[in-house]
Amino acid sequence: MSFSEKYGEYLNYFNSKLLAFCDKLDCKPDILRDSIKYSLLLNGKRIRPVLMLAVADLLNVEREKVINFALAIELIHTYSLIHDDLPEMDNDDFRRGKPSNHKVFGTGNAVLAGDGLLNTAYSLLISECFKGNEFVSASKFICDSAGIYGMIGGQSADLLYENSKEINEDALDFIYENKTAKLIIAPIIVPSILCEGKHYSKLKLFGKELGMLFQFKDDVLDVEGNFDAVGKTCGKDEKEGKLTAIKLFGLDGCKLKCDLLADSCLKILEGINGDIEFLRDFVNFSNKREN
Ligand code: IPE
Ligand code: IPE
Ligand code: MG
Ligand code: MG
Ligand code: MG
Repeated sequence: MSFSEKYGEYLNYFNSKLLAFCDKLDCKPDILRDSIKYSLLLNGKRIRPVLMLAVADLLNVEREKVINFALAIELIHTYSLIHDDLPEMDNDDFRRGKPSNHKVFGTGNAVLAGDGLLNTAYSLLISECFKGNEFVSASKFICDSAGIYGMIGGQSADLLYENSKEINEDALDFIYENKTAKLIIAPIIVPSILCEGKHYSKLKLFGKELGMLFQFKDDVLDVEGNFDAVGKTCGKDEKEGKLTAIKLFGLDGCKLKCDLLADSCLKILEGINGDIEFLRDFVNFSNKREN
């Protein structure tokens, strides 16, 4: 099976579970349910669920065991995007090729849709905790990755360094590791936590390097991409005065860093026993992607 066929297979499996989850949502008023479903069901790449399913396959963990964790992470990721686009954050009018949540439902409803997604993700995670200690550990790992020692910390620093004259690599590393890499490490680590920490350290390092690559490439696409492919307004990072890898290393420097990060990911994978073919192809896809 080719990489894109396998990706499509993971994607279809996850999207069918997400659709079933959305069909069951019956919160009131309707605008709350509609605003949540609007962002969730837009065409995201679903890289986090796909990575979780791929690592589950690598470690022989059943899909059914990880699917609620995959759903929770996609809910958290979607909430982070809704809030990231708000006028007081990145002020982005488009997301996943369509008007951002707040452009359709208004800022107040977009804040609540994000809050609702986060809260619902935590409810899913708490339900998993009844299944055993390893499920508690996996849930806690996701909470920590999303919270003040993770994505929220990174987003806070991202705002702090907007238009700052004080720019350096340490600040960029902190922002990118937290706002992006932590929520990419989490789906890679959850299957390992569910099978006695198999390949834990190597997978964690792999997730960190892949997460950094993913954000560096996101920066490149903000400069070189086009709206039809990426589904977001390009050129926004410079306009908003963001501290990005482009600002620090220039476009060519950033691309070089992407290649180095991809090499580092591939090297880590070589040290893992098992069928790493899909993850190896995923690294190359992350570096070459156009959306
Ligand atoms: C966008 O994430 C935000 C970043 C961390 C760069 P994705 O590129 O995974 O967004 P979707 O889910 O495919 O829309
Ligand atoms: C976003 O980084 C990271 C999170 C949403 C947590 P960006 O602000 O660069 O993501 P995009 O470019 O808006 O997708
Ligand atoms: Mg942002
Ligand atoms: Mg943004
Ligand atoms: Mg970006």
